[in-house]
Amino acid sequence: MSRITRRRFVGQSLAASAAVMAVPYIGRAQNPNGKLGVAVVGVKGRGGSHLDAFVGDSRTHVVFIADVDEYVGKSRAESVAKKQGFAPKVVRDMREAFEAPGVDIVSTATPNHWHALCGIWAMQAGKDVYIEKPVCHEIAEGSALIAAARKYKKICQVGTQCRSSKGIIEAFQFMKEGGIGEVKFARGLCYKRRKSIGPLGDYPVPAEVDFNLWSGPAPYTTPKVTRPQFHYDWHWQRHYGNGDLGNQGPHQTDIARWGLGIDQHPVSVISYGGRLGYQAERKDDNYVDAGDTANTEVSIYDYGDKCIVFETRGLSVKDSADEELNKLFQSTDENKIGVVFYGSEGYLAQVSYAHCIAYDKQMKVIKEFKGGEDHFRNFIDAAISRKVEDLRAEAREGHLSAAISHLGNISYYLGQDNKVSAEEARKVLSGVKSLDDNLATLDRTLKHLTDNGVDLKKYPISMGPLLAFDPEKEVFPESKEATALVSRTYREGFVCPKAAEV
Ligand SMILES: NC(=O)c1ccc[n+]([C@@H]2O[C@H](COP(=O)([O-])OP(=O)(O)OC[C@H]3O[C@@H](n4cnc5c(N)ncnc54)[C@H](O)[C@@H]3O)[C@@H](O)[C@H]2O)c1
Repeated sequence: MSRITRRRFVGQSLAASAAVMAVPYIGRAQNPNGKLGVAVVGVKGRGGSHLDAFVGDSRTHVVFIADVDEYVGKSRAESVAKKQGFAPKVVRDMREAFEAPGVDIVSTATPNHWHALCGIWAMQAGKDVYIEKPVCHEIAEGSALIAAARKYKKICQVGTQCRSSKGIIEAFQFMKEGGIGEVKFARGLCYKRRKSIGPLGDYPVPAEVDFNLWSGPAPYTTPKVTRPQFHYDWHWQRHYGNGDLGNQGPHQTDIARWGLGIDQHPVSVISYGGRLGYQAERKDDNYVDAGDTANTEVSIYDYGDKCIVFETRGLSVKDSADEELNKLFQSTDENKIGVVFYGSEGYLAQVSYAHCIAYDKQMKVIKEFKGGEDHFRNFIDAAISRKVEDLRAEAREGHLSAAISHLGNISYYLGQDNKVSAEEARKVLSGVKSLDDNLATLDRTLKHLTDNGVDLKKYPISMGPLLAFDPEKEVFPESKEATALVSRTYREGFVCPKAAEV
């Protein structure tokens, strides 16, 4: 029986959940062709790729679209109808789709704050799920999701599609066989130019959007938002998104952890950075951007004998003096998104979703690995075989990798008001255990900021606390403040259960 408690939900407007050209559909159970019925939840941006994948696979058809933005849902349904011959039913409240017969799979690309709860509700309702990265917005939600997948015996794939990339799989095999010697350290890079999202203010919610449902497990502010663009820019507001460390980042945190063969959380983390450079970009010293996540962030993760450093840069890295990285990426472009593995005999650089390059110690190319991914197909294969081990990005993998983003942000958020000079930062970082040259990374980061016009005296970086983490219990044994950020306070009707309660 579904445990979805629709009655507890207040303020929803089901009348508006209109069906667009809906025709009767049949799911696997009743379908003589054996097609799996899919409900796609959240279809504006990434959800479009989910729709294409399930429409394009002969084993599935899309029978429901759930989107709280009625306009988005309807227009996507029209284009799906053209491709598969009938329109999916469009609803605003995902629970309607979960309770309907004929839905075997739920695939979700909502904002991050909805991921885990959507996945848990869907599995409680008996569905297999494909959930976008990061698989949760809070660390405790990831554990609850794993518990739900185990309890309800469901197939739960996470949308870190690089796990299915031929180029990366082959490169990691090469690395595992000693291709670059012993490897204990990886540097993840999210150097992705992000301009200001506009001034902090009061902006209306689009009329087509059910804002109560959109807010879901996050606080319901007012019927207004504080960012000019409603969709997508929530990524940079911490109630809903996780900054670029938790947006682009989860692909690279996952690749770094996967390549190093790490199967646990780190034992400590420290982050520094800020949301910097937009005053210079806007030529206005008083400018306040609507985002409250870092656009510049360096996080250091200690895994005992291994280490990951993750660098997020939202300002331009064009023509930067990062000589070594420019060489490894063979590029001085505005963006650099990937992971560098440092081996005793050379380097392996993941330079795109489908391309890795191995170098010797002198940075001469040894070998290149190329080839794209079939991640949705892998999920459908597993939904049919019923073998969790067939999945390339099962819930636990997604959880461990999403937690890297969340742990880094927890240190950053707690230290946000601790503004430090370069000298003070050097002092702190010289005492932090790491396999990186912490001071060289700090110097490169500070130079990157000043290159982008940041006056570090007026706008200094923030230094987060060095936090010990208990990887088993998922708490910070020495910081109640940090442990409080492992979960969140939920609104009635949108409570994400704890792992023991799913
Ligand atoms: N795997 C990838 O390569 C990749 C690429 C891009 C985005 N993503 C992920 O996809 C997710 C969506 O990102 P986006 O950029 O498409 O965001 P977006 O804001 O453009 O789209 C989100 C959609 O979800 C809808 N939505 C919000 N709450 C909902 C709810 N409760 N029920 C139903 N629909 C709801 C919104 O109306 C909107 O249509 C993010 O988690 C992001 O990390 C993954």
